[in-house]
Amino acid sequence: MRNKKSFILIFTISGLIMILSRCINSVEKNNDPRGDIFIGSASCRQCHKSIYDSYVATSHFNSTKTASDKNILGSFTHGQNTFVVNSATQIVMEHRDSGLFQVLYVNGKEAEIHRMDITFGIKHAQTFLYWQGNKTFELPISYYTTVHTWASSPAYPSVVNFTRSIGIGCFECHSSYIEGKLNASNKVIEEVLDKNSLINGIDCERCHGPSTNHVNYHLTYPEVKQAKYIVTSNTLSRQQKLDVCAVCHSGNDKKKEISAFKFKMGDTLANFFLPWASHNNTTSDFDVHGNQYQLLSQSKCFLQSKTMDCLSCHNPHTNAGTDVSEYSKKCLSCHKDTDHSSLKMDEAMANTMKANCIDCHMPLQPSRAITFQLSGSDTTSFYLLRTHKIAVYRDEKINNLLQYFKKNKNI
Ligand code: HEC
Ligand code: HEC
Ligand code: HEC
Ligand code: HEC
Ligand code: HEC
Ligand code: HEC
Ligand code: HEC
Repeated sequence: MRNKKSFILIFTISGLIMILSRCINSVEKNNDPRGDIFIGSASCRQCHKSIYDSYVATSHFNSTKTASDKNILGSFTHGQNTFVVNSATQIVMEHRDSGLFQVLYVNGKEAEIHRMDITFGIKHAQTFLYWQGNKTFELPISYYTTVHTWASSPAYPSVVNFTRSIGIGCFECHSSYIEGKLNASNKVIEEVLDKNSLINGIDCERCHGPSTNHVNYHLTYPEVKQAKYIVTSNTLSRQQKLDVCAVCHSGNDKKKEISAFKFKMGDTLANFFLPWASHNNTTSDFDVHGNQYQLLSQSKCFLQSKTMDCLSCHNPHTNAGTDVSEYSKKCLSCHKDTDHSSLKMDEAMANTMKANCIDCHMPLQPSRAITFQLSGSDTTSFYLLRTHKIAVYRDEKINNLLQYFKKNKNI
């Protein structure tokens, strides 16, 4: 009797110790500006190492950064760091003891200077923001990877302009979080931001949603192999899967009712906006910049296959591949024997084309939203992106593209 009692007591106590020690030792704490329900990407690595290690190298994860000489793409070396506006006016990218700056010189005299505080962008272009009080402003000079040099910031009204205010909207697509100040009626004032709340880059929870419970559950019960407290992607509808990407890849012309920061996998994007004109996809003229979702959804492949989504060609945890033959294999998985005989190509061309469906059916096209000027030049340079409207094009040569641009010019 006594033995049985003490056995039960010892059993209960040791059980309690086990449970408590699990809680005390392994449950993670955080001080995420988004609140306790968010835990931060670093905590994912212990259980999802390969996804984590691949993801942190992507453009998504590095889409915004605290500017430093390690992540600014352009050169500060004398001879490569000057943007000539005209014979009297220059903007020079300077590395000084106190930081990295864009400095305006008029007639050889320093006229204005601002620090490059935040980088925006990495794959095709990089622009820079500076803080002034609790507001951010864009700097006039950006870096473009196609031309490997500094040039004027996109669609700049005039090159010498340090006053373009950057509101919370840009951060909603380019970062994981920043707190906007609220006005008296609890609406976010677009331009007034809390510097300390900025979470740079697009992190795991930006797509997967708040994950503190998921992490703590699996830390406590390492034997459970079934995911808990996280949205399971294979239960999502096609539209929900598309919306995970469309929240940032369907343009910026819609009036938001709920902040995009609140959107997570499984939500329905249409609920975040007031009904908006362009979402019905009747415009035939979406810009190649930012509208991948609408362009893809106008393609016959998308409409008639009923299965194609962004993940048919992209892995969410790696950068987009640059090898067109890899994408072409995806095309061939649905188009086994397309008849191109009307094109009357020689054999060599016909073979090349098997490995490159992309250049003809998803050609590079110039963006109308983003154009820029090179140093010392007053002509417009073009920013080329792949159109996601998969279709038959007959104007894939750059010359024809420029014609296309001129026809559609409406900036
Ligand atoms: C203590 C371990 C652990 C940590 C930390 C952890 N996870 Fe998991 N996670 C799991 C386990 C176990 C599964 C289920 C098996 C699997 O799919 O790998 C899982 C599955 C998932 C899935 C797949 C869900 C599904 O069914 O489709 C996602 C997404 C996910 N985790 C995201 C995250 C994110 C984001 C973080 C960091 C914020 C994170 N996990 C941190 C253990 C963990
Ligand atoms: C929170 C906003 C956001 C979400 C959500 C998002 N993207 Fe992006 N995406 C961006 C931004 C911003 C860039 C530009 C990154 C850069 O270069 O700075 C980008 C770039 C990309 C690129 C080119 C990157 C490269 O280097 O190859 C691909 C491909 C892409 N996104 C696909 C997707 C897909 C697929 C999804 C859904 C699974 C998705 N994105 C979800 C904002 C987002
Ligand atoms: C609705 C979401 C959205 C908003 C708002 C937005 N962007 Fe972007 N931006 C993207 C996406 C997606 C890409 C990459 C794909 C593309 O170019 O089509 C991108 C690309 C960029 C790039 C080039 C990055 C690269 O290398 O591809 C820069 C620089 C940039 N945006 C700056 C800004 C600034 C500054 C603002 C605010 C004035 C802003 N963006 C507002 C979604 C957005
Ligand atoms: C741009 C959005 C996006 C980001 C950011 C993102 N994921 Fe995912 N993740 C997805 C999507 C979409 C799927 C579903 C993939 C599928 O169905 O094939 C997924 C699937 C997963 C899975 C389960 C499937 C698998 O491949 O094992 C895990 C685990 C996961 N993500 C973890 C992470 C972690 C950890 C991070 C950060 C290091 C992260 N994700 C960042 C969009 C994202
Ligand atoms: C998931 C299956 C699927 C994939 C993957 C796919 N397509 Fe399609 N595609 C279709 C279907 C279905 C149609 C409509 C029926 C048809 O014309 O064969 C179509 C139509 C087309 C058309 C005719 C378009 C028109 O407007 O007349 C072209 C061109 C095309 N696809 C090229 C491609 C290329 C290039 C790729 C790869 C980048 C690709 N497709 C990937 C399913 C797919
Ligand atoms: C049929 C295949 C296919 C599908 C589906 C697809 N993409 Fe792409 N995507 C590509 C190809 C090809 C590229 C060009 C890669 C390169 O040249 O580096 C690309 C590039 C991109 C880029 C970088 C822009 C550029 O020109 O470098 C973004 C952003 C992107 N895709 C987003 C998306 C989103 C969001 C979806 C879903 C709405 C999607 N893609 C669906 C094939 C696809
Ligand atoms: C040199 C440019 C070029 C390349 C490369 C190319 N196509 Fe085409 N494709 C065309 C043109 C032009 C047409 C329209 C032909 C016509 O109307 O007779 C076409 C037509 C098509 C169609 C529609 C056929 C129909 O009858 O509706 C499909 C599907 C297609 N291509 C798929 C592909 C796939 C898949 C690849 C890669 C294996 C590819 N194409 C490579 C130029 C090209």
